[in-house]
Amino acid sequence: MKITAEFITSAAGPADFPADGVPAVALVGRSNVGKSSLINALLRQRIARTSAAPGKTRLANVYRVARGSSGPIYLLDLPGYGYARARRGGQGQAAPAFDEVAQAAFEQNPAALLLVDVRHPGLENDRAAWRWVTSTVERCAIVGTKIDKLAHGQRIRALREIESVLEDSVLPVSAVTGEGLDELWKLIDRLASNRNSINPRSRRQASIPPKETAPRPRRK
Ligand code: GTP
Ligand code: MG
Repeated sequence: MKITAEFITSAAGPADFPADGVPAVALVGRSNVGKSSLINALLRQRIARTSAAPGKTRLANVYRVARGSSGPIYLLDLPGYGYARARRGGQGQAAPAFDEVAQAAFEQNPAALLLVDVRHPGLENDRAAWRWVTSTVERCAIVGTKIDKLAHGQRIRALREIESVLEDSVLPVSAVTGEGLDELWKLIDRLASNRNSINPRSRRQASIPPKETAPRPRRK
């Protein structure tokens, strides 16, 4: 399927994001989790800058993407959290490490993907991020990155642990081997097409089904 992608802008505040009604999907996650690499893998080109050193992406980079016959979308590569970290949050704290750029991006009511490194399930800042994401946007999902780094048995255990801690399903992917990318495109298409742009906050609250059967989150 043909993919065309174009870098649009590096956004620092709410006014910098495109406001043309094209659906946006934001990639959220710790520094070094692989947000920019995943964008490159999805777009099959080295359009986003990546680095082995955390903290590479400091502004929200906006890419406009057209894929096959799907309508255009924006992918937002947000700065990672957990690099210049705010103080450690307590259990109920909403968003200890989200900076202004991420907050500004979320004012546009994008869908969001929380990226979690499958080798590090249950980190407190990922848990805080998921609480923040689910309470801020309506359409969101969790992606487990760097699945190529785990052997088969470890994968199952790691994915189960992330799902148990975050109380939601996780899609495992690898930017290196391409594993999971077809499924991720389907997920992105679903998140981007199923959109409504009225007050996401109030509707999200009503739309979260109670997870009665999920085990209680464990602390590390
Ligand atoms: P910040 O911009 O600092 O927030 O980081 P980021 O989340 O954009 O991470 P980035 O894509 O720059 O990747 C960080 C490091 O992880 C780089 O060394 C990548 O090569 C590596 N990496 C990313 N994705 C994968 C993956 O799927 N598998 C493996 N093995 N390495 C990966
Ligand atoms: Mg990056």
